[in-house]
Amino acid sequence: MTSTAAPLLESDAVVRKFAGMTAVDQVSINLRQGDLLGIIGPNGAGKTTLFNLLTGQLRPNSGHVRFRGEDITGLSVHQRVRLGLGRTFQVVRPLPDLSVLENTMMGAFLKHRRRSDAEDKAYQVLEEVGLAAVAKDRAGDLPLARRKRLEVARALATEPAVLLLDEVMAGLNPTEIGHAVDLFKDLHEKGMTLVLIEHNLKVVRTLSRHVVVLDHGAVLAEGTPTEVLQHPDVVRAYLGNRR
Ligand SMILES: Nc1ncnc2c1ncn2[C@@H]1O[C@H](COP(=O)(O)OP(=O)(O)OP(=O)(O)O)[C@@H](O)[C@H]1O
Ligand SMILES: [Mg+2]
Repeated sequence: MTSTAAPLLESDAVVRKFAGMTAVDQVSINLRQGDLLGIIGPNGAGKTTLFNLLTGQLRPNSGHVRFRGEDITGLSVHQRVRLGLGRTFQVVRPLPDLSVLENTMMGAFLKHRRRSDAEDKAYQVLEEVGLAAVAKDRAGDLPLARRKRLEVARALATEPAVLLLDEVMAGLNPTEIGHAVDLFKDLHEKGMTLVLIEHNLKVVRTLSRHVVVLDHGAVLAEGTPTEVLQHPDVVRAYLGNRR
């Protein structure tokens, strides 16, 4: 979706190097309220590193990150979560010994000091993602698809303005992927701005309006899913060795 509103989240020529290797190379992305951006690219292309730069897990060697027009390059993860940046991790990290509800409340405590308010918020989110029935179960006992859903719930409980999803469909079966796609469509229809790192191109086609392709840390192509997936450089760099 395009609009004339100010950008919600931007990276401006961000660069991140690891021991001389450039993992993210001058990447500029521009996300507006209500967008649903897909980020694709081969393994090691720099997708997760770009998320880490946006969310503050890492600082760029150069370049800037802006949120609602404000430079947030120097802000901590926590400060950015407070502003409204929610993310999931590629390796799911719910605390296994806590219940589904308690895990979700950990996100909700960000905006709700009182335990009962955090619990209400957590239940509301668990309803939304379809985990209310297992709220009292131990998180570590959930099957993978539900653990991934819990990861989304924890992020949603912080009441983000934008949700960054790092391969939340990986390891799921086709039925589970279908349910996850429905969940993200639903969140998007309710107004959530989403960025989706995803290897499953069918999912990218179904969900994204706009796609950025990273390769060797740099933007190789961007456009609609159809434009991007037909781009000869993308076919060579990405599709050629993945499908
Ligand atoms: N903390 C780190 N220290 C050193 N090198 C890193 C670090 N994080 C990432 N890298 C390297 O940076 C490059 C980009 O990694 P990144 O995890 O961003 O790729 P990705 O596109 O998310 O890949 P995948 O699809 O496998 O998840 C890789 O070469 C990776 O080994
Ligand atoms: Mg990654």
